[in-house]
Amino acid sequence: MAKNPVKIMDTILRDAHQSQAATRMRLEDMLPACEILDKVGYWSLECWGGATFDVCMRFLNEDPWERLRALKKAMPNTKLQMLLRGQNILGYKHYADDVVEQFCKKSIENGIDVVRVFDALNDTRNMEAAIKFIKLYGGHCEVAISYTKSPVHSEEYFVKLAMKLEKMGADSICIKDMANLLLPYDAYSLVKKLKDNVSVPIHLHTHNTTGTGDMTNLMAIQAGVDIVDCALSPMANGTAQPATESLVATLQGTSRDTGFDLGLLSEAAAHFRTVADKLDIDPKVLKVDTNTLLYQVPGGMLSNLISQLKQANAQDKYYDVLAEIPRVREDFGYPPLVTPTSQIVGSQAVLNILAGERYKMVSKESKGLLKGEYGQLPAPVNEEVRKKAIGDEEVITCRPADLLAPEMDKYREESKEFAKSEEDVLSYALFPQVAEKFIKWRNAGGEAAEPVKEEAKAAAPVAQAAPAVQAAPAAASDNRVRTLIVEDLTGGNF
Ligand code: CO
Repeated sequence: MAKNPVKIMDTILRDAHQSQAATRMRLEDMLPACEILDKVGYWSLECWGGATFDVCMRFLNEDPWERLRALKKAMPNTKLQMLLRGQNILGYKHYADDVVEQFCKKSIENGIDVVRVFDALNDTRNMEAAIKFIKLYGGHCEVAISYTKSPVHSEEYFVKLAMKLEKMGADSICIKDMANLLLPYDAYSLVKKLKDNVSVPIHLHTHNTTGTGDMTNLMAIQAGVDIVDCALSPMANGTAQPATESLVATLQGTSRDTGFDLGLLSEAAAHFRTVADKLDIDPKVLKVDTNTLLYQVPGGMLSNLISQLKQANAQDKYYDVLAEIPRVREDFGYPPLVTPTSQIVGSQAVLNILAGERYKMVSKESKGLLKGEYGQLPAPVNEEVRKKAIGDEEVITCRPADLLAPEMDKYREESKEFAKSEEDVLSYALFPQVAEKFIKWRNAGGEAAEPVKEEAKAAAPVAQAAPAVQAAPAAASDNRVRTLIVEDLTGGNF
């Protein structure tokens, strides 16, 4: 029997705690387990990017760059992986190419080996610069397909996209199923077709939100997937990834045996159990949520929807909003629901329902999306809606970043009073107020200033940073709408 071991990326240091514990795991919670993690033989350990960068500075008083260097030092034998939002880097707007270049360069210099790049719209032009610079500075460039379901997102669509990404230089292709919508038999079929048409390794990323994660991974493995994502058991399942140990045991003695030592994994798990206890995980995130399968709306988006409607005292509108989301998504050309499009579509659906009239109020972000500021939408948009939203304004059809002049010098100038390094300048470029406050606190010795305030844990990490979609003044007559500030309806689907 020819051996073809399944490779595993463990997400315990990034996506697992981002999905279950609002990204609150600290470096000091990670370091004691690093020696063991480094011995397991993982393909990579995901430990940076996503929401970690923002949360480090905003809530944990940690320098994200320092965290990365410390992890690299503690795990010299394992590739470290990060998640990068293409031209958005880790922020919520498009950055000029020189910022993308400097960020890729510094991430790799400070310890990142593998960068997973994605774009919410699967617009390859938004990933072009990142791909080029990751490769230029010696990183492994893994490019992700944002998986979703819609009349345009056929298997053929994804296979074509993957072939294009391979041509663009992808060293591996990731199927990024942030909402756990990819069902087991669909995973089998998609992976088979990708393996037939693409020669670089195929890497599957899913969650266990809808309870199908383990089955999806196993079917993908049967179809020949090269790498899958799992999380060590103390923070596995639910909104996070399926458990590492369960898959390792399942594959033992088969041609796809990982070769991992369950004893070592159990040692690492013992440590993270104490961390999970400390992080006080809401049991809700561990339950199977089949609404996602019914409404094709990511799980995190549903729970935030409920809390946003509660704020507006309009809980009774829950099912109306649920029904409105697919309509808005269709009007907007079927964007996959992932940050930031999930926030934009969700917020617009809420506005449509609460205003009592569709597109009476249109958020700034919805206008931007319809105007092409985020890139090309997967399908034609509803022109009537576009007209209502942006009038006769011209639609952008070029690569959005082509409209941006170099920005690094501007950020260097603006941060020169406190930035001590290019890394600090990049922190400032991505999160200006948060980084300035943090860096000044750090420069002052990190004790004198007031500690960074821990806000309501229930809020998702991106909730504080995502663009606030505010009700337009036109709605002032409606109190419920006026008080509604929809910040983030997704809970961060990464
Ligand atoms: Co994820």
